Amino acid sequence: MITLENLKKYAGQRLIVDIDRLHIKEGQRIALLGANGSGKSTLLKLISSVIKPDEGQINIKKEKPVYYMPQQSYGFSSGVYKNILLALGKDFKREERRQMAAAALKQFGLEGLKDKRGDRLSGGETQRLALARLMAAPHDLLLLDEPTGAMDIEAEKAVEKAIVDYCKKNSTTLIMATHSPRQALEIADRLILMHEGSVVEDTSPAKLIESPQSQWGKVFIEHKKF
Ligand SMILES: Nc1ncnc2c1ncn2[C@@H]1O[C@H](COP(=O)(O)OP(=O)(O)OP(=O)(O)O)[C@@H](O)[C@H]1O
Ligand SMILES: [Mg+2]
Repeated sequence: MITLENLKKYAGQRLIVDIDRLHIKEGQRIALLGANGSGKSTLLKLISSVIKPDEGQINIKKEKPVYYMPQQSYGFSSGVYKNILLALGKDFKREERRQMAAAALKQFGLEGLKDKRGDRLSGGETQRLALARLMAAPHDLLLLDEPTGAMDIEAEKAVEKAIVDYCKKNSTTLIMATHSPRQALEIADRLILMHEGSVVEDTSPAKLIESPQSQWGKVFIEHKKF
């Protein structure tokens, strides 16, 4: 579905993303892991065309639209329910849109906030709204940058289940940055570990647990409860 080739992004003189080749198959659920500053967000911005590469190519099958949630998510000033309705656009009939928005409100625990302004929510509520907007409709490709970083543990667990169910139901390809090894194991079927802009390990959860190849892989295993 996505092929990256000789991809390079610089910040001044410094190479912040440097990936020779990476192929992502349709329906894969990928967790992108790595320390602060390892290039996860930059890679997601490149794939979603928020920024352009300095060198190399990103090929996405049939120019599929990419649905992207940035690390700093935001709510629009309209009400929470309307935020979701607006995101559904004109692709669905009015009544269908209402049903989908109501289902998303419920799924992300936003029913009690449905009339509250989207730009006046707490950090975790804002993340739930951003996910509800993206996941109210089925999509082929979802990029999520630390989507539960500000959530309480209960919300986080509910959202993890919602993401897995959504991806399975819609055969969605997912690439998700996370700092939680536990969350990565919960959601992903492929783990990509980054260090200083490059991929240092690209493997399945089972293989990583059995025999991590990189130093970062070993750190991951030590922290897999978190
Ligand atoms: N626009 C920019 N200008 C200069 N440096 C940048 C820019 N964007 C990113 N960087 C640098 O590139 C590196 C990678 O940043 P990135 O945001 O991709 O890291 P990350 O893996 O997402 O980290 P975190 O876990 O903290 O979110 C960092 O060292 C960052 O300071
Ligand atoms: Mg980041």
